[in-house]
Amino acid sequence: MVNGGPGIAFSGHSRQTAMIMQQFNDSSSVLALLATRKSASAKAMAGPGPTAEQLAEILRIGVRVPDHGKLAPWRFILWEGDARAAFGDVMKARWKVLHPEHGEQTLGFVHGLFLRAPTVLGVVSAAQEHPKIPVWEQQLSAAAVCMNILYAATAMGIGCQWNTDWVVYDAEIAAAMGLKPGEKLAGLIYFGTPTAPLEERPRPDPAALLTRWQAS
Ligand SMILES: Cc1cc2nc3c(=O)[nH]c(=O)nc-3n(C[C@H](O)[C@H](O)[C@H](O)COP(=O)(O)O)c2cc1C
Repeated sequence: MVNGGPGIAFSGHSRQTAMIMQQFNDSSSVLALLATRKSASAKAMAGPGPTAEQLAEILRIGVRVPDHGKLAPWRFILWEGDARAAFGDVMKARWKVLHPEHGEQTLGFVHGLFLRAPTVLGVVSAAQEHPKIPVWEQQLSAAAVCMNILYAATAMGIGCQWNTDWVVYDAEIAAAMGLKPGEKLAGLIYFGTPTAPLEERPRPDPAALLTRWQAS
């Protein structure tokens, strides 16, 4: 089944499927990749990250998503190289204000958040009020961008994880990132090479989530 049997994708027994799966991110077929996709962890990531060409390809695939009204209500912010430590200074300074009681160890962790991976990509939802397209739909499209990015990077053999953390919800940090009013970070995607084996997590059983609507 791991090698691309469509049975995986349409099986209602995710837990059993997880047990059967011997291999994550099996790229032998499209369905196999979809069925075995597994995020890496930003906590266990090293270089190399995507090359400039790979990143361009990841973004090309990233924006190929359903987008009601063709509004392209998203944009990207990239942190690589020294920019990660420089932004660490910003996060650390903000954390000091929010939590003056915290010591150097915590501050060091906060400073190093973006240094955990060689490449960090902010996916910005740039939804705006529109006469026909609800903001909610525009925000959903940003989530689709994040998901496409994960699939693209995973298919290229690049470890990736979609994270948020407090930095996504802090107004001062948003200003430092250059977010405009109404813009929100849909996620921070960390890219790199996993330094630890990927571990499965329990997956919900889709059959338990399904109800069949019937006229009463
Ligand atoms: C919007 C969003 C935010 C997330 N934020 C975090 C986070 O801050 N930290 C974290 O460990 N996982 C976070 N996750 C979960 C990971 O992206 C990922 O799902 C998890 O590592 C399990 O791996 P999987 O994608 O293979 O299921 C978030 C997921 C989503 C959709």
